[in-house]
Amino acid sequence: MSVDELRQLVDEDIQAVDELIRTRLSSDVALINQLSHYIINNGGKRLRPLLVLLAARACQYQGDQHINLAAVIEFIHTATLLHDDVVDASKLRRGNMTANAVWGNQAAVLVGDFLYSRAFEMMVEANDMYIMEVMSHTTNTIAEGEVLQLLNCHDAETTEVRYLEVISRKTAKLFEAAARIGAILGGQPDTTETALASYGMHLGIAFQLVDDVLDYSASPEDTGKNLGDDLAEGKPTLPLIHAINTGTPDQARLIRKAIENGGHDNMSAVCATIESTGGIPYTAQAAQREADLAIAALDPLPASPYKEALYSLAEFSVNRTY
Ligand code: IPE
Ligand code: IPE
Ligand code: MG
Ligand code: MG
Repeated sequence: MSVDELRQLVDEDIQAVDELIRTRLSSDVALINQLSHYIINNGGKRLRPLLVLLAARACQYQGDQHINLAAVIEFIHTATLLHDDVVDASKLRRGNMTANAVWGNQAAVLVGDFLYSRAFEMMVEANDMYIMEVMSHTTNTIAEGEVLQLLNCHDAETTEVRYLEVISRKTAKLFEAAARIGAILGGQPDTTETALASYGMHLGIAFQLVDDVLDYSASPEDTGKNLGDDLAEGKPTLPLIHAINTGTPDQARLIRKAIENGGHDNMSAVCATIESTGGIPYTAQAAQREADLAIAALDPLPASPYKEALYSLAEFSVNRTY
């Protein structure tokens, strides 16, 4: 199933989520409206809300709270992007200038806070204490992941284990929550909830591994982001860690220096070293293993087109170019 085909399965729900996102963005503070519409209406794959919808349908959910919670998850995701682009000093997002590049860091951080807190207002409307527990724990974990990553920046001693800890928290945790919420809404037993949560976690790790590959190998026309932002911030992602671990002493030294110094200047030498140490296929294989684990985790779910769609979403996360 292609991503377009799997979107078709929940097309009406997607329309409803988009509509809700539009209405709940509104504020009587003009800058909030302007900036939040700019970031939310400029594309974005909407994968996390899609995951809520598919998981809820795969669990035979019949109500309408999945629409609300899918929008909540996208608001939280968007808030983290606004903050992330400030921290990463990124200039391009979704094919346009980042909000921080247009309005400055202060506005981007504060509107990120608006989206976060609006998400919590909406979540309270779902009136489910367990879902609030899951979501508050999730956002707290994401914040920890971002801070852990900050500590790893410019640290060439960062290990693969520490890197995986960061990406599990900053990225995969939200995918985990999105899938878990589908099971909670569907009133599923613990085994199904755990299965979907595990699916989301593995999917999210695969997704970030591929994101870190794309930062060295994609075209900005496809991703809508500038290449080399990770290197510029001295982020020790897996392609670099692998080059240090398996390269010659000279290659390892070059990568260590690049992590310590950051900046864009070393990009071509670093790319050549990643290429010759096989860092891209190594990372892509790690992503494929995670996608396989995600797919295997779905075993307890009954067969349905939605389950098939979840399989396809895992494959897309690995094979994507955007
Ligand atoms: C970007 O996520 C941030 C990461 C966790 C890598 P997406 O690639 O899902 O961003 P949009 O929403 O489609 O722009
Ligand atoms: C994902 O990391 C950030 C969040 C989870 C907010 P990146 O910094 O790699 O994401 P992009 O590449 O800027 O989208
Ligand atoms: Mg970033
Ligand atoms: Mg990235």
